[in-house]
Amino acid sequence: MNADFSTTLLKWYQEYGRDLPWRQTHDPYAIWLSEIILQQTQVKQGWDYWTRFMHRWSTVEALASATEDEVLREWQGLGYYSRARNLHFAAKQIVAMGHFPDTLEDIKKLKGVGDYTAAAIASFAFGIPAAVVDGNVYRVLARHFGIDTPINTTEGKKLFAAMAQELLPAGQSPSSVVLPPSSQYNQAIMDFGAIQCTPASPNCMFCPLIESCIAFRENRVAELPVKLKTLKVTERHLSYIYIKCNGETAIHRRGPGDIWQGLWEPLLVDEQQLSQFSHHYSLRLVKKGVKHVLTHRVLFADFYLLETTTKPTLPNDYVWILESDIDNYALPRLIEIMIEHITSKI
Ligand code: ADE
Repeated sequence: MNADFSTTLLKWYQEYGRDLPWRQTHDPYAIWLSEIILQQTQVKQGWDYWTRFMHRWSTVEALASATEDEVLREWQGLGYYSRARNLHFAAKQIVAMGHFPDTLEDIKKLKGVGDYTAAAIASFAFGIPAAVVDGNVYRVLARHFGIDTPINTTEGKKLFAAMAQELLPAGQSPSSVVLPPSSQYNQAIMDFGAIQCTPASPNCMFCPLIESCIAFRENRVAELPVKLKTLKVTERHLSYIYIKCNGETAIHRRGPGDIWQGLWEPLLVDEQQLSQFSHHYSLRLVKKGVKHVLTHRVLFADFYLLETTTKPTLPNDYVWILESDIDNYALPRLIEIMIEHITSKI
């Protein structure tokens, strides 16, 4: 039965699998880059970024020689910037190792590479029989085998990882250019989850696994997979002052241990500083309570404009730059939108 499941998926993949550029190569660097981009980004959006990164930095050595700022700048718009910082850090790790790590254990040593990404790189670049377990895999297995163990518990993770490994078909690669069945199966189940067995509207009527799918038989497709609700989303309020002073503006780089690490932003003030500024300068409120949703936080930001001909004294970490140079700095999406709004209005 399990062999049937894997065989059916492989057949489906031959007909419907997606033709993606990082599947045309065994270059571990290209594959690793694609997996980091696709961790929290849809293929449609990630494709362009992957192409641009590969064009600008075609080898891991080239990426390692870039500055973190350049990498963040190229990443701008994708969100979850820790991915870009880890990517850059890991590029240097790889260069220091002398070659791209080629065992599951060594691939896991790279910053930003967890179990899923390590298995994907090992499987797609080196043909190692390691099962990938991502959201697509959880969904397909939970539905097909009718499993309601929550996927975000230790028990669930262990159970699904063991099942995925067991379902991996055996067999060697017929040649150095063709991936072994285990790697093709990994790609197949991910595509099957992304195209056929989708979260909200799976195409059950034209599903090659309909006969053996427990969720379909028991009318539980919409219920599976089960995920426990645990995340607490906190609200946060931020006030920014965008200063215009003789064609210059002041920005600073955010430090570690908080949102947007390593990205740049205009003057960030607390309530007391805001009231001091409004005492000394005429501040214009440009936008109030702009809502911006991050993974664990909802931000509400107020944006003020301060136009002056004398530079206010700012904390040490602020730098004055030409307003026309702002595009050279990696900015959070929210800040980018607001600066565009402010500068286009004035
Ligand atoms: N999502 C994550 N990795 C992927 C891959 N290699 N192909 C398609 N979608 C993916």
